[in-house]
Amino acid sequence: MSRPVVLLLSGPNLNLLGDREPLVYGTDTLGDHVARAQAAAEERGLDLEHFQSNHEGALVEAVHAARDRCAAIVVNAGALTHYGWSIHDALAAFDGAVVELHLSNPYAREPWRHTSVVAPVADGTISGLGALGYELAVEAVARLLDERSPGA
Ligand code: DQA
Repeated sequence: MSRPVVLLLSGPNLNLLGDREPLVYGTDTLGDHVARAQAAAEERGLDLEHFQSNHEGALVEAVHAARDRCAAIVVNAGALTHYGWSIHDALAAFDGAVVELHLSNPYAREPWRHTSVVAPVADGTISGLGALGYELAVEAVARLLDERSPGA
């Protein structure tokens, strides 16, 4: 039987991780985070695909393409988290599990980061735990999928 597919979505500027504001986001690259998420997925018998874009429409299309194909989405939408309503709407039309992820803790930062348009359409949010968040987000997805289809 084919394994459930988890889509890890990375929004604008996350391609610069490692180089970008290391005091806030750490020195690991996006590739390092994806590798960690992939290892966590492998341990739980999940296939993990990754897509990064700096363009809102491309992220929306990736969510559309995940419908009926992916069991879950882990999404770090970068700054689009705070105003990307088209991503909100695309996720609202996705039936699988959704986990919102951030390296930093947006609530401890500037006020404009305190609003998330992703949170209302996510099962839950992991933020402020840096690289560990990628592993925890995959574990969260695995448990949500177990709960939704026990024994699958
Ligand atoms: C981020 C937090 C956002 O506020 C910011 O715009 C990002 C990264 C995080 O992972 O901490 O680009 O999503």
